[in-house]
Amino acid sequence: MTSQKAMSPESDSKVVCVTGASSGIGLAAAEVFAEHGATLIIGARRVDRLETISKRLKKLGAKDILVLGLDVRIPSSVEQFVQSTLKRFNALDVLVNSAGLAAGRDPLVSANIDDWERMIDTNVKGLLRVTKSFLPTMIEQKRGHIINIGSIAGYEPYEGGSVYSASKFGVRAITKTLRLELSGTNIRVTIIDPGMVNTEFSLVRLGDQEKADAVYKGMMPLIGRDVAECIYFAASRPPHVNVDQIFVMPTDQASATKVFRR
Ligand SMILES: NC(=O)c1ccc[n+]([C@@H]2O[C@H](COP(=O)([O-])OP(=O)(O)OC[C@H]3O[C@@H](n4cnc5c(N)ncnc54)[C@H](OP(=O)(O)O)[C@@H]3O)[C@@H](O)[C@H]2O)c1
Repeated sequence: MTSQKAMSPESDSKVVCVTGASSGIGLAAAEVFAEHGATLIIGARRVDRLETISKRLKKLGAKDILVLGLDVRIPSSVEQFVQSTLKRFNALDVLVNSAGLAAGRDPLVSANIDDWERMIDTNVKGLLRVTKSFLPTMIEQKRGHIINIGSIAGYEPYEGGSVYSASKFGVRAITKTLRLELSGTNIRVTIIDPGMVNTEFSLVRLGDQEKADAVYKGMMPLIGRDVAECIYFAASRPPHVNVDQIFVMPTDQASATKVFRR
């Protein structure tokens, strides 16, 4: 029996699209794929940042890079993003849905409804929109890989996290549904579920650097690179292997709420 090899760096010229590539996990994922010679499409709202990042990705080894402004909440922005990608490369091998956020940590009774809208519009509807727009191409080309970034919050709710958790339970449901619906199409579907990762996530959530730093006080969180390597692992398996899910937690974090602090 011959074994199918995982992608070797030299054959790793996949076309990879990363949403939320201006920071954190998405940025780290773009870097890892660049190191393996991928062609990259990077999207986020802060295009100035993406321009700077793209220079670094080129140096790391990316074969080609397309920088595109993207707001996953806005249908016309997603449409333009997908059209520009397909016009330039005419194919997509991997879609990493990393664009996402948490907004606020208030109990439901006092939470800000605008925060709810932002989280649902970005984490759920945005991910759905981007995925739906790329799917016909993946189905037609009879290959592709959708990698969604879920969270421990998609399994274990916690106080002050009702809507963020709901959005990540939603990402999990969408991922499983796609896995079922795309059976027989040769398209792979993966969810990567991290625990605490020190990115801009807590700054965006709490709006204050001091409060954000306190989230990780006395414990060792993951960094974007830790999650990016899981993403790349899933993407680099041979075509007959679908990594359905990877849970990746800091050693200091045993559940959504149990965190060891020195
Ligand atoms: N950090 C954690 O502890 C953790 C744990 C589990 C899961 N996650 C998930 O991991 C994903 C990435 O988060 P992160 O930790 O890397 O946070 P981050 O550093 O804040 O990065 C979030 C990225 O999403 C982009 N984004 C936000 N809203 C967007 C929109 N409307 N349209 C397009 N892009 C948008 C941001 O770019 P712009 O602002 O430039 O648009 C940024 O690039 C999220 O889905 C998050 O829920 C994070």
